[in-house]
Amino acid sequence: MQRSKRIEVLDKRPVNLDGYISEWPEMGFAAMNSPYDPKPSVKVENGIITELDGKKREDFDFIDQFIADYAIDTARCEQSMAVSSLQIARMIVDINVSRKEILEVVSGITPAKMTEVMNYLNVVELMMGMQKMRARKMPGNQAHITNLKDDPVQIAADAAEAALRGFSEEETTMGVARYAPLSSIALLIGSQVGRPGVLTQCSAEEATELDLGIRGLTTYAETLSVYGTEKVFIDGDDTPYSKAFLNSAYASRGLKVRFTSGSGSEVLMGSSEKKSMLYLECRCLYATKGAGSQGIQNGSVSCIGVPGAVPGGIREVMSENLVAALLGLECASSNDQSFSNSDMRRTARTMLQFLPGTDFIFSGYAAEPNYDNMFAGSNFDAEDFDDYNVLQRDMQVDGGLRPVTEAEVLRVRSKAAKAVQAVFGQLGLTPVSDEQVEAVTYAHGSHDTLSRDVTADLMSAEDVLKRGITGVDIVKALAQTGYEDVAESVLNMLKQRVIGDYMQTAAILDSKFNVLSGVNTANDYMGPGTGYRVEGERWEEIKRIPHLIDPADI
Ligand code: 5AD
Ligand code: CA
Repeated sequence: MQRSKRIEVLDKRPVNLDGYISEWPEMGFAAMNSPYDPKPSVKVENGIITELDGKKREDFDFIDQFIADYAIDTARCEQSMAVSSLQIARMIVDINVSRKEILEVVSGITPAKMTEVMNYLNVVELMMGMQKMRARKMPGNQAHITNLKDDPVQIAADAAEAALRGFSEEETTMGVARYAPLSSIALLIGSQVGRPGVLTQCSAEEATELDLGIRGLTTYAETLSVYGTEKVFIDGDDTPYSKAFLNSAYASRGLKVRFTSGSGSEVLMGSSEKKSMLYLECRCLYATKGAGSQGIQNGSVSCIGVPGAVPGGIREVMSENLVAALLGLECASSNDQSFSNSDMRRTARTMLQFLPGTDFIFSGYAAEPNYDNMFAGSNFDAEDFDDYNVLQRDMQVDGGLRPVTEAEVLRVRSKAAKAVQAVFGQLGLTPVSDEQVEAVTYAHGSHDTLSRDVTADLMSAEDVLKRGITGVDIVKALAQTGYEDVAESVLNMLKQRVIGDYMQTAAILDSKFNVLSGVNTANDYMGPGTGYRVEGERWEEIKRIPHLIDPADI
């Protein structure tokens, strides 16, 4: 066949490098609904759920049982299930029905019913729902802070810059897992240099992560994964009960915790039980609520290629974010792992969370170049900062970031790198040279930095654990080396662990260490004239992008 030159051009477009598959429910490739999804039903006897979504209690798997026992308000069940799914969908978009009323109705419905409700909403309605149901009044954002070399000096500088740019939470992970203690310390110091009050996390193997948290080297934990089928849960050596226990272990020591789930994991692990991605994700979210977690990181997260490949998949991702909010959970709404070669497609996908605002629009924006992202690449990265700032300005939308000046960036990067140099010196960890500080200050990414002595670093990292170094030691080392202000901030982060207010749903801290959460700063959106509006000082800040024509100069 003679080729059409136009089709040849289209075939070469980035969007055609992405993977697509037709619906195939038998293997779990069904986004919003599957012919095998159960019909909603519930039976309550003596305050106990004896039937859930078509299954009798004796046939429950452990997820059904956990949901029945801990995630549904049995006192509300009958009344809530009697309201039609269409009616609940309409309440969600009705500006005259408050968030509180909807939370109450929804507390008595089952996962299959929740799935049915979402199927009535198109993407604009899903966004309207999120605008109202998000827990915290103002949206927020979370960054990834990693690099190919696991260089703690770069982690500190990138963390400082990202904090300056407005991220409320920062997480790191490692190429070499044993670096974790140094990564955590660098992230803790760098974040507080950039903006006091930023929460930090180090995603590591569970025992290490818990240990670092208890020592006060991190302030939250996020990757407590849950799954929608029993088989996949067991493959991860876990049950909803073990996750609930781990959640309590963190919470008992004053650490903020959120779970992680998202569509596509069951498909990838080969055990979707023919159910739709949305139904399985609803089960994850009910399990999360039942375990007592204040929030969830969801929206497919690292499995985004799967919903991204099927019809309606991106609508499904937004649906699962909204379900999280409907269950009263803080929602860190993914937009993390990159899923498309197309700039149009990756931006469009992000608009669903960006426009209404979620508690964390990205649950991992790469605040480094993509090649340095050790979480496997993000949908947006450090090279997109200005695009993102312009989007906020174009639409007068608060995406959680702010424009910055080059001078401020260099100042905080240099200070963070020097503070890490001082603390490592004071604690007798691997030395940081002045040349390293200099390179990291001006670097775009690890291609521009000097190499570190990895063997010595890993010995230092082990030493941190062996010597029992804690957050208090970091405070002391900072104070002893002239970084009293940073010491004060790190100390304030440790105090939060004792106060515990930042364990409230969707809590973040402002730069004065005030808690802003879904409890004390609840979303009160009820249509035009209400809720969070971009105005005043914040609007002025968003307007001040680089490369402006100043009328005064003309
Ligand atoms: N379901 C459950 N957990 C997930 N994670 C990422 N995506 C998902 C998902 N769809 C968790 C895993 C991973 C970390 C980055 O986040 O624990 O290691
Ligand atoms: Ca994250």
